[in-house]
Amino acid sequence: MLTGKKFGAAGDTVVVEELLQGEEVSVLAFCDGNTVVPMLPAQDHKRIFDNDLGPNTGGMGAYCPCPLLDSEQLKYVQKEVLERTVQGFKKENIKFVGVLYAGLMLTKDGPKVLEFNCRFGDPETEVILPLLASDLYDIMTACCEGTLSSQRIQWKENLTAVGVVIASRGYPETSSKGYRNRKVSAMHNHVVFHCGTALKDDNIVTNGGRVLIAVALAPELVIAAAKATNACKVINFDGAQYRRDIAHKGIAK
Ligand code: GLY
Repeated sequence: MLTGKKFGAAGDTVVVEELLQGEEVSVLAFCDGNTVVPMLPAQDHKRIFDNDLGPNTGGMGAYCPCPLLDSEQLKYVQKEVLERTVQGFKKENIKFVGVLYAGLMLTKDGPKVLEFNCRFGDPETEVILPLLASDLYDIMTACCEGTLSSQRIQWKENLTAVGVVIASRGYPETSSKGYRNRKVSAMHNHVVFHCGTALKDDNIVTNGGRVLIAVALAPELVIAAAKATNACKVINFDGAQYRRDIAHKGIAK
C-alpha cells in the first residue's frame, strides 16, 4: 500500500485512528435543512467472503431492517448523530438538503460514527427503498421545499428485504468482463439491480466487479435471504461469486 503505491496518491498519507469494534450498521436519513427523518436501518456486508473474511469490497449484500440496532439506539443516532450534524451545518451556514448517510459501528460504548456520506448507500439503498410505502418523489420534493416535517413517511410493515450481490471472477482485485447473464430477464418476484452490466448484441454481459444485486422481499429475513441467495444460483454466469450468509446476523438476532 505504501511502497507499492497500490492506492495511488490516496496512499501517500497514513491516518491512525481508534479501532472501533462491533457490528457495522448504516442509518440513512432524508434532510430538508432542518428536519431529519431516518430511513430503516440496514446492514452492508463489506468483505468478499462468507463469515466476513477476505478483503473489503464495495459491499457484497445488505438487508433491511437491521435488528442489531434497537429503537433506543436508533433514537440516539437520530438525535445525537444525524440531527446534531445538521444543526452543526446550520451553525456554519450550510443548508444540508438531501440524504445524509451515517456509517456506524455499534461498539460496547454505544453507536459511533465511522463515516458520513452525502448520498444514498450502495447496496443499502437497494434493500431500503423497496420497503418504502410512501412516494419517494414526494419526500424528495419536500426535502427541496423545506416541508419535510409535514410529510408522513411510511414503511411497509411486516416486510424485510435482502439483497445479494453477484460479483465477477477476481473481484475486488480485478474483474472479468463479457460473460453472458443468461437468466437475468427470467427472474420473477425479485428485483434485480444492474451495477456492472452492458448490452452486447442484445445480450446482457458482465462489465464490472459488482455485476448485479438480487433483492427479495419476505415477511421474515430468513425467507428473504433464502430467496435472494437462490436467485443468484439461477442468474449465474461464468466466474460468478456471491456470499451465502447475507443477513445471517440479523436472522440470528
Ligand atoms: N455501503 C457503503 C457505501 O455506500 O458507501
